[in-house]
Amino acid sequence: MHEGMNQGPGVFISFEGCDGSGKSTQIARLADKLESLGMRPLVTREPGGTPFGEKVRDLLLGLESPNRTILSELFLYAAARSEFVAKVVRPALSLGRIVLTERYTDSTLVYQGYAGGVSLQTIEMINAVATGDLEPDLTLVFDINNPHILEERFARKVKDKIESRSGEYHEKVREGYRELARRFSHRIVVIDACQCLSKVESAVWEQMVGTLAKKGYDSIKKRN
Ligand code: TMP
Repeated sequence: MHEGMNQGPGVFISFEGCDGSGKSTQIARLADKLESLGMRPLVTREPGGTPFGEKVRDLLLGLESPNRTILSELFLYAAARSEFVAKVVRPALSLGRIVLTERYTDSTLVYQGYAGGVSLQTIEMINAVATGDLEPDLTLVFDINNPHILEERFARKVKDKIESRSGEYHEKVREGYRELARRFSHRIVVIDACQCLSKVESAVWEQMVGTLAKKGYDSIKKRN
């Protein structure tokens, strides 16, 4: 097992990908499916997940909030993450629950690192401190390599502060995720999010089943 992996009971899965890649829809579908099988997954998100995290979300993403420096962004995400891990993720994992989070440490590596210009080494160090080295058992990266799909999705949406950044910034985000998938291949799986929803759902389920098997599905089911 890779150092930093969640070695306790419970299963920790992060959903990552550029804005508009369909993470929310798929996380909801997966949670419904797990519930229909008698499990009680915890669905959460970053920034968010705790009242403090939701405040950080407003501070950083609200259209009316002033621009922050990239380092102030980084530290705010990290502060929220340390509460999130201590108060939400670890307690749920210690009860053997399945935790599904929309975004986690990889978002910071990509948005503040690859796209924002902060060194990856610095971010890795801050992430490690904020999480006490807690890595997901599985990270699903929703990849969209067709910019027209994103344009269509955003045409119907009011963009938040980060979504309003340049096309170049978002291209770096997408490339950053692909790069992370190559680097952390022990836990990251790239899902082609240009496919129809049901195909994406099947791909997510296939990965979920594999991870449940690795983590001892039966014992987890009993504890939920
Ligand atoms: P979302 O919940 O709609 O995906 O919005 C969250 C935004 O916050 C998204 O644009 C990515 C950004 N973000 C970062 O820049 N760094 C982070 O560490 C996290 C968790 C999110």
